[in-house]
Amino acid sequence: MTGFSVSDVVGSRGGEANELWAATINPQFMRVLKTIGFDRTWVRGEGAYLWDGKGERYLDLIGGFGMFNVGRNNPRVRAALIEAMELNLPGSVQLGTSPLPPLLAEALLARTPPRLGRVLFTNSGAEAVEAALKLGRAATGRAGVLHAEHGFHGLTLGALSANGNAEFAGRFGPLLPDFRSVPFGDVAALEEQLRREDVGVFLVEPIQGKGVHLPPPGYLETAQELCRTYGTLLCVDEVQTGFGRTGRLFAFEHWGLEPDLVPIAKSLSGGYIPVGALLMSKDVHQRVFDSMEHAFSHGSTFAPNELAMAAGLATLHEIDQAGLVPRSAQLGEHLLELTLPLVERYDVVREVRGIGLMWAIEFGEPASRGRSYRVLERLQQGIFAQFVVGPLFRDHRILSQVAGHGIPVIKALPSLTVGQDDLAWFADSLDQSIRRARSLPRAAGGFALTASRLR
Ligand SMILES: Cc1ncc(COP(=O)(O)O)c(C=O)c1O
Repeated sequence: MTGFSVSDVVGSRGGEANELWAATINPQFMRVLKTIGFDRTWVRGEGAYLWDGKGERYLDLIGGFGMFNVGRNNPRVRAALIEAMELNLPGSVQLGTSPLPPLLAEALLARTPPRLGRVLFTNSGAEAVEAALKLGRAATGRAGVLHAEHGFHGLTLGALSANGNAEFAGRFGPLLPDFRSVPFGDVAALEEQLRREDVGVFLVEPIQGKGVHLPPPGYLETAQELCRTYGTLLCVDEVQTGFGRTGRLFAFEHWGLEPDLVPIAKSLSGGYIPVGALLMSKDVHQRVFDSMEHAFSHGSTFAPNELAMAAGLATLHEIDQAGLVPRSAQLGEHLLELTLPLVERYDVVREVRGIGLMWAIEFGEPASRGRSYRVLERLQQGIFAQFVVGPLFRDHRILSQVAGHGIPVIKALPSLTVGQDDLAWFADSLDQSIRRARSLPRAAGGFALTASRLR
């Protein structure tokens, strides 16, 4: 019997990746990549960098949508995974236990407020959100779910019901009943809804990922108080903001919050293995898992997965040992210092904002040459941001993203291992790319037309 070789198959067929992807996975996705010039074949990743088939190195500011906080192919997380595989661990017994899941649960709870006392493992962020919605309903006996406008919590049907963005939620209705939205940051609107005492869960991102919106001062603290007053569970979604992203291990620490429910995922396994978890108060857990009959009220075949648990423990160890949380806070400050001057330098730059290594730049109609900006906006909303992302990629080898459909915002979620020199490289390249986009090349109109016809 001959063994299967990953390197043989990648070596012999790797060049066909884009065509195969289009033929077998998603042709529309390939069209998008081609249109924005991102149809590269990537062959290697390390830390904050990616390499293409020509051996060119790129700075990766997308970070797999924020799942590589410890860097791609972190050697210590990889070593733990190889070790775990060589141990011939039992794998899931289902009707039995093994040490790694409770050890990771213990490590997570040791790093969060005492109010959180139980962990339910999942395979993704959306699944962790689903668990929060489902368990929150049972624990409170209330069907109502309140969420913030423009929030993002995943694309499964329950999470989608709490998604404030029509481009995701449209076409898939009817969504779950009893979901209502309130503007992010509006305390009065929140209280008006909570006062009805039919809301089981208030689901909110501490910093909204779409567009990187920070909460107004006092908002989250007041939201927590109101939730306690009206018997609603506070669910703070840390899927994107967790594990040092914002300069604290969890973003809720910035405001001293003690949520009842906390979905986490993304960086927990160092980007290697799908994983997620719902951290919850013992009270919530006991109200749902209240008898032997109810011991199996929620779960999934693959969760907890032992390799994900090994990677999770190694990732927490790495975050501590490498000091990635304070590093994120410091580098975030540095990135703001480097990029805030762009607001003064270019009238097309509305705002630069961020916290830790969750950063964004927002564009808006400039005072001068506003007409061409408006014309392009009419063809494709938010297109100016794409005119900056393009040259960043093509001319400066920096992979970045527009922060959401139709919004003129570029967002960065680099690995927390990124260097000061990388940030300087980015700030300088951004400056040049904005200057270039500001003069709106002739090709821009053609591009915008193609992009607007992508549907
Ligand atoms: C805040 C937030 N919650 C939930 C999710 C969904 O996580 P996943 O993609 O692992 O399902 C995401 C994904 O981007 C997210 O940003």
